Amino acid sequence: MPFQSIVILTGAGLSAESGVPTFRDKDGIWAHYDYREVATPQGFARNPARVHEFYNMRRRAHAGIRPNAAHAALARLEREHAGEVWVVTQNVDALHEGAGSRNLIHMHGELFQALCAECGARTRWVDDLSLDTPCPACAETGGMRPDVVWFGEVPYHMERIVELLQAADLFVSIGTSGQVYPAGGFVAEARAVGAHTVELNLEPSEGRSLFAEAIHGPATVVVPAYVDRLLKGD
Ligand code: APR
Repeated sequence: MPFQSIVILTGAGLSAESGVPTFRDKDGIWAHYDYREVATPQGFARNPARVHEFYNMRRRAHAGIRPNAAHAALARLEREHAGEVWVVTQNVDALHEGAGSRNLIHMHGELFQALCAECGARTRWVDDLSLDTPCPACAETGGMRPDVVWFGEVPYHMERIVELLQAADLFVSIGTSGQVYPAGGFVAEARAVGAHTVELNLEPSEGRSLFAEAIHGPATVVVPAYVDRLLKGD
């Protein structure tokens, strides 16, 4: 009996083969930057220019990257699978959209969106941002920030994510170390409702023992192979 409601959690490992650095691998982003300075509200209050430069650099670095075979396989699964398929991503890049995924939730926000702290307006944003950038909606300066969820802030769309997890009969975690919550706890929520749980990752993650099944290898190899299995009804 094929799965009816599939929830797929993705992390930085899914975009690694597109040339996007992960966070906690040997040469990852947090080996070069202190997250407390560039990815917390306190860091932004202390030195907003440094935070804007961190995200401006990442926005520029994303200009030349493309979705990889793993992103494409997930978009194919959504198109061709008879049941519901949702991707909940921790990634702030636009590679899932670029590959054609539509049922997509960015729980940590989006690099290519700006948020005005003055009026709450969200605006698609590809260029550099600074405190001098006027908000397109309210024209105020001094309030524009990346629309990215920082450590200590509440991830987006959690009610919808919990609804999806509670209805899931398959939960697949791809390319995440499972070290950051609430995403790291999703596998336990899926198990609690009897969903089958699978980890697809380069190597065993922190939460490996919580998964019923694990397939280790590069995402561009293991994800298309797993999607083929699902579409064949294995
Ligand atoms: N294919 C599959 N998995 C890979 C690949 C690859 N080519 N390369 C790396 N990985 C795996 C690593 O083994 C690791 O388990 O991807 C995972 C990346 O883990 P992290 O760097 O911790 O990234 P992630 O889990 O997405 O971080 C979660 O932490 O810093 C915050 O908000 C940030 O969304 C991020 C969150």
